[in-house]
Amino acid sequence: MLLMPTTDDAKILAARRSLEFIEDGMVVGLGSGSTATHFIQLLGKRVQSGLNIRGIASSRASEELAASLSIPIIDFSTCSEIDVTIDGADEIAPGLSLIKGGGGALLREKIVASASKRFIVVADSSKVVSKLGKFPLPVEVITMAAPLVAKKLLDMGIRPKVRRLGSGSEFVTDEGNLILDCECGAIDDPQRLAASIRQIVGVVEHGLFLDMADLALVAKGAEVIEMAR
Ligand code: 5RP
Repeated sequence: MLLMPTTDDAKILAARRSLEFIEDGMVVGLGSGSTATHFIQLLGKRVQSGLNIRGIASSRASEELAASLSIPIIDFSTCSEIDVTIDGADEIAPGLSLIKGGGGALLREKIVASASKRFIVVADSSKVVSKLGKFPLPVEVITMAAPLVAKKLLDMGIRPKVRRLGSGSEFVTDEGNLILDCECGAIDDPQRLAASIRQIVGVVEHGLFLDMADLALVAKGAEVIEMAR
């Protein structure tokens, strides 16, 4: 019986293709989420067979995974420029505008991506959209300001919801902040929305990654499509 490839198979395929962009001696930004996890696992195998790279992680989870696979981990005190970052995305729109932060790591992910010479997105094809906004936009906020930020967002016509764990308690980011998942509807002007959210006091970061990604490796079935900016 012929088994249809699953979404996870597609994520592995995209992650495997991204290894072609990793060279000996590079500093590699390690993304977060399930597709980035596949990448880190595959990268770990290469390191164990002799590949010499150093990693900068975009979340505590990715850092712990990388360390468990013997990938040397460094931080920005030793190195301020990353050769290439491989990370997932929640939505990929034309021009490689992204929504990220479904896993709550958007702040460090954006820092790592912004320090990268090359930022490559790995994803299965369900992430490709014609316009951003179906996926609720994650906005990371300082805890004490969350009600104020939520009110300002409501005034802008956005519906924010504090992210919670299955247990009902608030999801807290690696940096100790809260996430507001924001129903924005179709985002016609991502740059404008990003600027408006950014100016709200108490917002730490938002999940719109605009003009950052250089390439997306999107897997569909047995094929990986390259999307350029
Ligand atoms: C985490 C992220 C992830 O990259 C994004 O949520 C995609 O995750 P996955 O690869 O599990 O679909 O931004 O904050």
